[in-house]
Amino acid sequence: MTLLRDHDLARAFDHASHTYDRLTALNPGYRTDLLRSARRLRLPGEGAGLHVLDLGCGTGTSTRALLRAAPRARITAVDASSGMLRRALDKPWPAGVRFLHLTAEAVATAGEGPFDAVFAAYLFRNVTDPDRVLAAVRTQLRPGGRLAVHEYCLSGSPVHRALWTAVCQGVVIPAGTLSGDRGLYRHLWHSVLDFDTAPAFTDRLTRAGFTGVRAVPVAGWQTGIVHTFLARNACADAAGCAR
Ligand SMILES: C[S@@+](CC[C@H](N)C(=O)[O-])C[C@H]1O[C@@H](n2cnc3c(N)ncnc32)[C@H](O)[C@@H]1O
Repeated sequence: MTLLRDHDLARAFDHASHTYDRLTALNPGYRTDLLRSARRLRLPGEGAGLHVLDLGCGTGTSTRALLRAAPRARITAVDASSGMLRRALDKPWPAGVRFLHLTAEAVATAGEGPFDAVFAAYLFRNVTDPDRVLAAVRTQLRPGGRLAVHEYCLSGSPVHRALWTAVCQGVVIPAGTLSGDRGLYRHLWHSVLDFDTAPAFTDRLTRAGFTGVRAVPVAGWQTGIVHTFLARNACADAAGCAR
């Protein structure tokens, strides 16, 4: 199957935005896993004085997790799909949260940074060139800044691969078909099978220049299917990392 990319993917998310929150609510643990990953950023002082980027924020579920993990942070949330952003904007947000229609690739030149931390949930598997987006993130993260990537990256075990396919064929694609978004949910299935395993994505982050890279599994049925990847932007010098 050809995966959806760029403009086609944004249009598919525009269409799916109407039912996205209802469908993800059917996934036990979707919100609690996002919150756990956001908390794994371990932002000090509830995020006071920090500027945090939510890359690929969708309808704002990951933004809400960030806000709960760091209620005093200033949050900039960006997404390529105007439909998903509209859903996010329909929700109540405090003054420190703002949403922008911006691709992850364009973050490098948009002038919205620098950021003290970046959270990217369910984004990297969807982008055409993950290395380019990681490089963009590095240009916008302060030295020593924290990155948490929450992603469907399989462990590498055939058991987890088979479980993912069974869940997609038995639940995800039938539900997506009912909502009129079969193409997007078939993309979800295949994009996970095609994307990096957790060890491969860990290596990718290290190659991109991040330090202290580690993969932490989530709990429940998605163990071995979803991971939080934690990393820091390399420091130019020790003083840069002392902030
Ligand atoms: C599966 S949704 C996840 C949304 C949100 N982070 C969450 O956890 O609920 C993926 C989101 O990534 C966005 N996306 C995909 N490719 C993108 C890109 N290149 N730049 C910005 N956003 C992108 C999509 O529009 C979509 O809203």
